[in-house]
Amino acid sequence: MSFIEWQDQLATHIFVVDQEHRFLIKTLNKLHEVVNESQLSQQARDTLVMEVLNDLTFYTQTHFVVEEELMRVYAYPGLVNHKAEHDSFVAKVGYLTGEIKSHPMDISNHLLGFLKDWLTKHIMVIDSNMGKFLTEKGQN
Ligand SMILES: [Fe+2]
Ligand SMILES: [Fe+2]
Repeated sequence: MSFIEWQDQLATHIFVVDQEHRFLIKTLNKLHEVVNESQLSQQARDTLVMEVLNDLTFYTQTHFVVEEELMRVYAYPGLVNHKAEHDSFVAKVGYLTGEIKSHPMDISNHLLGFLKDWLTKHIMVIDSNMGKFLTEKGQN
């Protein structure tokens, strides 16, 4: 069983958004795997964790740009609040990524918990509201 399983409640019914969410979940599951990889030396594992974390940060930021562009094109009234959520997430992950360099093991599990909670809640509430609006406007 994966760290996060895809479930119907995560669907926004906007194709590109759902595709990217699936990919983010896949990358987060990969991060969970490498954090808990016991076959590698600590140094090799830490290097791998940083690589996957950098990928996840990059994919998340490009995903946010896609959502923000969709909201802008359709003049979504919740754009400012939605973008503020994205921005504070990016800031928090940036901070935790900095911390991970000094104490990898302590922070890795904290970071995983934060990413899982944030991502699932954000998708189910904030992205799903955006999805309803965009669907009504004819976007799919
Ligand atoms: Fe979002
Ligand atoms: Fe999203």
